[in-house]
Amino acid sequence: MIKVGILTASDKGHAGERSDESGKVIAELVREISAEVMEYVIVPDERPVISSSLKRMCDELGIDLVLTTGGTGFSPRDITPEATLDVIERQVPGIPEAMRAKSMEITSRAMLSRAVAGIRNRTLIVNLPGSPKGVRECLRVILPVLPHAIEILKGQTGECARPE
Ligand code: MTE
Repeated sequence: MIKVGILTASDKGHAGERSDESGKVIAELVREISAEVMEYVIVPDERPVISSSLKRMCDELGIDLVLTTGGTGFSPRDITPEATLDVIERQVPGIPEAMRAKSMEITSRAMLSRAVAGIRNRTLIVNLPGSPKGVRECLRVILPVLPHAIEILKGQTGECARPE
């Protein structure tokens, strides 16, 4: 069972002015990798609030995979990648690279995503876009690879070879 945390960064969502459809899409899609959503928070687009919430999920709740949604664009308040970089120890550039590359086949606006991914201790953190459509399209790309990523991170396998 993969322990998942969902963090929605949204001023409006946090204020209760907008329902968080993107967080719900994440919760729905991760069922496909037999994950359990252990924590789900909606926080404002504030760098220290996002980073301390991420730290709590990694350090106190022992979550394996944190998926964030929102705050990866160009709006002045978009700060999720910076808050993520504040807490990760190692970057995993291939994940956002793959999401952007595949998403570019759908919309050239995908190049506007500033999403990052990285590892803090035994937790993988991945930024997803803010829209439910963007979440769905990006998660579809990375979902099949995530169980293996988590296995390696938790030391359950060191074996990456697979029959072609
Ligand atoms: N990626 C996919 N797959 N589909 C999308 O519709 N939207 C893009 C991009 N990535 C999009 C996407 C747009 S328009 C923006 S501005 C950025 O994600 C950042 O989105 P955010 O600010 O909502 O996080």
